[in-house]
Amino acid sequence: MPVILAIESSCDETSAAVCADGVILSNVIANQTIHEAYGGVVPELASRVHQQNIVPAVQQALSIAKVNKNDVDAVAFTRGPGLLGSLLVGVSFAKAFALAKNIPLIEINHMQAHVLAHFIGDNKPSFPFLCLTVSGGHTQIVLVKDYFDMEVIGQTLDDAAGEAMDKTSKILGLPYPGGPLIDKYARLGNPDAYKFPEPQIPGLDFSFSGLKTAILYFIRDNVAKNPDFVQQNLNNICASVEKRIATILLNKISKATHQLGIKDIALAGGVSANTGLRQGLQEMCNVNGWNCFIPKLEYCTDNAAMIAIAGYYKFLKGEFTGQEVTPLARMPF
Ligand code: KG4
Ligand code: ZN
Repeated sequence: MPVILAIESSCDETSAAVCADGVILSNVIANQTIHEAYGGVVPELASRVHQQNIVPAVQQALSIAKVNKNDVDAVAFTRGPGLLGSLLVGVSFAKAFALAKNIPLIEINHMQAHVLAHFIGDNKPSFPFLCLTVSGGHTQIVLVKDYFDMEVIGQTLDDAAGEAMDKTSKILGLPYPGGPLIDKYARLGNPDAYKFPEPQIPGLDFSFSGLKTAILYFIRDNVAKNPDFVQQNLNNICASVEKRIATILLNKISKATHQLGIKDIALAGGVSANTGLRQGLQEMCNVNGWNCFIPKLEYCTDNAAMIAIAGYYKFLKGEFTGQEVTPLARMPF
């Protein structure tokens, strides 16, 4: 009946969670609004805000879970990938807590944790399954053979899907992070109003940089003719961009499913919160008779609950980490 305290600080969310015997008891997420004005995450500011938020987030997570810090059996933490200064705050906190309480440390790969978020709750996929992991820094099709046996079989050659959302919103003059705003305006627009190009990338890989350039030129040319073009057509632009990003993702996961004959498909990462993508995947699975796993919204964007559940499965395997551990900005599976 292990009680695990989990820490996530890889980017701009400071999060702490508690899980007991694989059941999530709390999941506290402190968002950093300081980056809104800058059009993206400022690493130096992110690490400072993590320093301010980490102790209150942990205290709140323990209090909501009604767990005393003396009853924690292990500390799971994100080792990477992510921003080094941000990761350092969470890693240092985890090491200090584990040292003080004389309990083991469990290092977690953030991208594996996004996939393992599907093991929170009762509707768990069975192995092997495919996971489309789409976040601000990554776009991957992952063949998940076991809890920690995962293979990336397709990935972006340039920008990530979330980056494409955020860069588009910046072009449109919207604050960071743009993904949730594009989602909001897209609900009010016509997805077929404008047609953006679909890149022709062989295999299961993705590319989003050409789309970003196409959107940039499209906006530039239209604003030259009508300075109010963006304000007058914001909903239609967002709906059309969202549709194109979703179809790029869905076409590749469909291709992977056909190639591998695996009919269980999961969605993970921050962009999995996107309404159009969630609906699109559900419809595609319904039409083809595939099984679809879509995470609850609170487990899509960065959160420590997914670190806790990954930590629980590592605890069961007895896989612990030494106090000499350091964070990794890049951390392959
Ligand atoms: O997984 P995540 O929280 O952080 C990383 O590990 O990168 O993903 C953040 C990304 C951002 O690019 C954000 O704009 C995007 O997820 N995102 C969304 C939505 N919510 C978050 N994109 C589209 N629609 C959303 N509703
Ligand atoms: Zn993430």
